[in-house]
Amino acid sequence: MGVQFTKRAISTYSILNTKKKIIVTGGLGYIGSHTVVELIESGYEIVIADNLSNSDLDVLDKINEVSTGDKPKFEALDLTDAEKTFSFFQQHKNAKGVINFAALKAVGESVQKPILYYKNNLSILLNIIENMERFEMNNLIFSSSATVYGLPEHLPVNESSSSKRPTSPYGNTKKIGEEIIEDFAFNNSAFKSISLRYFNPIGAHPSGKLGERPNGIPNNLMPFITQTVSGKRKELKVFGNDYNTPDGTAIRDYLHVVDLAKAHVLALERLLANKNDTNYEVFNLGTGIGYSVLDVIKSFEKTTKKKVNYSFVDRRVGDVPILYTDPSKARDVLNWKPKYTIDDMTRSSWNFQKSEEI
Ligand code: NAD
Ligand code: WQD
Repeated sequence: MGVQFTKRAISTYSILNTKKKIIVTGGLGYIGSHTVVELIESGYEIVIADNLSNSDLDVLDKINEVSTGDKPKFEALDLTDAEKTFSFFQQHKNAKGVINFAALKAVGESVQKPILYYKNNLSILLNIIENMERFEMNNLIFSSSATVYGLPEHLPVNESSSSKRPTSPYGNTKKIGEEIIEDFAFNNSAFKSISLRYFNPIGAHPSGKLGERPNGIPNNLMPFITQTVSGKRKELKVFGNDYNTPDGTAIRDYLHVVDLAKAHVLALERLLANKNDTNYEVFNLGTGIGYSVLDVIKSFEKTTKKKVNYSFVDRRVGDVPILYTDPSKARDVLNWKPKYTIDDMTRSSWNFQKSEEI
């Protein structure tokens, strides 16, 4: 005999089922998928919108395999399409907020195809904000990037460091995106937003089921290392060994993607609880520790017992020599304390790469 729900039981259930609904755009991508898992574990109801331009539907299954809470809903949606984005928001107008990961992110490609990058990344943002205003959805978290600092005058970089014109159209979409949000927030006192400026996210979920899956030849260091070791690439080219750093290679602030994902939950909770100091806030997300390219290679070789085949080539145009954050604002205000080490990052990246090849 099936369970009979009375009207009263159903209404009690809906009162008790007070999970807050959050829209996650670009939620099947690298950082979005890890964040969706953390949000589910923190008790949120998740709706993902993604056009799968840089992700696959099987990520949804992996999210379900590694998370213990309710399955996220998914809609294949191009967020540059204003009409479809409107219908999507209308359908989910009871959502409490949006985390926007959706963007194209390949720096080199953006130099070749600037209009594509401006159109995609800025239309997505404008469509989202327009619908948030329409449906009085007042909490937005935006994926920004350390690239907005350009070549920094002082290290470490903090949130008050001057934000320069980034060296690529991609980076400029982040700077302009932040400015659009700030302008909108200035005129809408109910609207609240946090831009999170990520430094260098690497690593993968401890399960080995979620990680970074670049399309084609990777631009970033970590996936290039894992693909070189797996035999997919012949050799890693280390861009420059004549920088003014202890070993001559460039220094970055690498952070584990799971730590990064948790920062989104904290930022969202800050907004939902109205704990924000102003209605537009910015946080740098990095560990505050700089590692050189050779440090990353050494950590990888130590944690995986695999040799990385590499050679030195000229510096890559547009690269800054050293970039790392002052992590104190995220620590003191968001209470975010990244726990993973560089060894955890390199080990988990390799675990994911191995599981991809099974
Ligand atoms: P990703 O490419 O893995 O994820 C982005 C997702 O957005 C993909 O699933 C893609 O299919 C989707 N998308 C792109 N255009 C879309 C559109 N028009 N409509 C719907 N979906 C669309 O990238 P990621 O590494 O997870 O980065 C997430 C966000 O963080 C991006 O905004 C990126 O610019 C930003 N960011 C990334 C890094 C990094 O190093 N990975 C650093 C700083 C900032
Ligand atoms: C890291 C270091 C390279 C590849 C980029 C974007 C930035 C942000 C994060 C999105 C550098 C060196 C790399 C290789 C190498 N993304 N390297 N050989 O350039 O710090 O930041 O990703 O917002 O906007 O610019 O990251 O991983 O490409 O490079 O020697 O094949 O590794 O020169 O010193 P980057 P990266």
